Amino acid sequence: MQAIKILATGSYLPPKVLTNFDLEKIVDTTDEWIRTRTGISERHIVDEKTTTSDLAFEAAKIALDNAGLKPSDLDAIIVATASPDTIYPSTACWVQKKFNIPGIPAFDISAACSGFIYGLTVSASLIESGKYKHILLCGAEVMSKVVNWEDRETCVLFGDGAGACIIGKSEDGSSGIISSCLGADGTLGELLIQPAGGTRMPASHDTVDKKLHSVHMEGKEVFKHAVRTMGSTGERVLKEAGMTADDVDIYIPHQANMRIIEATCKRVKMPMSKVHIIIHKYGNVPAASIPLALDDAVRANKIKRGDIVLTTGFGAGFTWGGMVLKW
Ligand code: ACO
Repeated sequence: MQAIKILATGSYLPPKVLTNFDLEKIVDTTDEWIRTRTGISERHIVDEKTTTSDLAFEAAKIALDNAGLKPSDLDAIIVATASPDTIYPSTACWVQKKFNIPGIPAFDISAACSGFIYGLTVSASLIESGKYKHILLCGAEVMSKVVNWEDRETCVLFGDGAGACIIGKSEDGSSGIISSCLGADGTLGELLIQPAGGTRMPASHDTVDKKLHSVHMEGKEVFKHAVRTMGSTGERVLKEAGMTADDVDIYIPHQANMRIIEATCKRVKMPMSKVHIIIHKYGNVPAASIPLALDDAVRANKIKRGDIVLTTGFGAGFTWGGMVLKW
């Protein structure tokens, strides 16, 4: 076991709530379609001025408070996001500016919905190196500014928000990562993509007119891959931990679609009663989904020290990751 510990969690949602009924007034959709196809009833969205780093900063302040630490106690800042403030500097650097703690390393993880699990894996290695004592890991998204509000197939799916964790060493060795895996398949990148804005398709009048700076998704294909990969990743990390679903106290999946979660649970033989669901109230908040669900579960007293936590994620790239943690 990698003897690391999630010392504390925090989360932040922008106050404005956009319900499915609100969406009925924006695109040709219905509350019934969205709920039955995805499990989503509402999501939070930011105002014009708010950025991804603003949400990460608010979540991070709460996590630090819960850990009983000061910003100056941090040794690194990592932000997992698919909707950064700017391509560079990284969103993590903007969070660092808000805390006014120059000097420590700060960088982003770009692995879409799997970003938090990628970030946790990197954080664990940094902690194990002995050079870093406290790492701030955030998953933060402002998807409302990168979706096409005329595309009913994508704009109904996403939400904004941030979750944060403070990661440190497990001093008595009682907490840690029992098993983990990461994976990616860049050959399928076109299936879920924000096409323009990088060097492949720099911003132009044409890219703006064609709305290529927003999410483009082959929904059905992504759905199939998500179901297959979330299931196989869950099975793999459970097997490597020498465990079955019976040993798991709580399952925190990435939450893109309730039907993907249900199909994954079937595959890993996990009863739905062990799954902590937030998708109905937050939508798909890519890299923030898992840390938001973790904090939600902690605040609801659904996770206690010593519990076995399974988490799996899948997203654009494609990327995926899974972990069995002893809380
Ligand atoms: N309201 C009403 N009708 C709609 C809407 C909507 N919002 N969106 C699509 N439809 C219509 C379609 O046009 C289609 O109409 P047609 O039959 O006349 O052609 C019909 O509904 C059925 O569409 P499907 O694509 O078959 O719907 P499906 O059951 O596949 O659900 C969904 C679509 C929810 C997008 C699903 O495919 C999905 O969840 N995909 C995966 C999403 C995901 O996992 N994303 C990964 C993470 S995101 C990241 O990494 C950044």
